[in-house]
Amino acid sequence: MGERALLCPSLPLSFAPSSRGGGLPVASPGSKFSNHTRKDARKQFFTINSKLELKPPPYPLNGLEPYMSSITLEYHWGKHHRSYVENLNKQIDGTDLDGRTLEDIIAVTYNKGDLLPPFNNAGQVWNHTFFWESMKPGGGGKPTGKLLKLIERDFGSFDRFLKEFKSAASTQFGSGWAWLAYKANRLNVENAINPQPNEEDKKLVIVKSPNAVNPLVWDYSPLLTIDVWEHAYYLDFENRRSDYISTFMEKLVSWDVVSSRLEAAIARAEEREREEDARGQEQDRDSAEDEKAAQMSHGENEEEP
Ligand SMILES: [Fe+2]
Repeated sequence: MGERALLCPSLPLSFAPSSRGGGLPVASPGSKFSNHTRKDARKQFFTINSKLELKPPPYPLNGLEPYMSSITLEYHWGKHHRSYVENLNKQIDGTDLDGRTLEDIIAVTYNKGDLLPPFNNAGQVWNHTFFWESMKPGGGGKPTGKLLKLIERDFGSFDRFLKEFKSAASTQFGSGWAWLAYKANRLNVENAINPQPNEEDKKLVIVKSPNAVNPLVWDYSPLLTIDVWEHAYYLDFENRRSDYISTFMEKLVSWDVVSSRLEAAIARAEEREREEDARGQEQDRDSAEDEKAAQMSHGENEEEP
């Protein structure tokens, strides 16, 4: 099942307190989810950090000035992001989630939107690392190559994409995130309430998500995100969220990173298709053999007096 199984464990899961204590609801070690995720997690492309540690941004804390100040990074990364990591480690300590990848924890605790306690901290740890890596000093401008072609194909033009992305980020009510993602398929994700189940596949989409939710829970491949929690912009822009969004898009986005993520997402989707084709062929062979065996059995019975 590839990453689909990783992101859509069969529910309802059987939850049980860890044998190591703690009493937190966690997936039972014998569940289908446990088996799939441990195997598939090794193959997945989205792993940012399998250890639950605070990963620093890929630039100095003053590296995004004057567009994002060092004081914002000191608070946002140094305090907010750090507290998500520390709180998550406390929540999963001594449970069966301890030692799982961050993506596994997000998948199992999303629980069709009926969030289990560690979800918010897990999502926020992943989202923030992804956010820091979506920016670079001297960023902004316009993408090139395949990414630009797909943006123009799916949104009409880069300017229309900018307008739609800014609109999504501006209209996310309260705290949350806006995303550009690659939607590779129309699979019904078992552990999610898919927000756009009938949309065409293999295309770029813009989605927004509340609080700590991210597109992984819908089996989309995130390519770019902007944090629109107030703590992301209040020190630099006060309540002017739209100015922060424009500055992010025009001066900070690392289109190189977004392009690399797109390449990985497409390669991953192609690998999944090959795996699904191989499984389909195997099932066809099994069916043909079963049919042949049934016919032979029927023939032997007919010869009996
Ligand atoms: Fe944030």
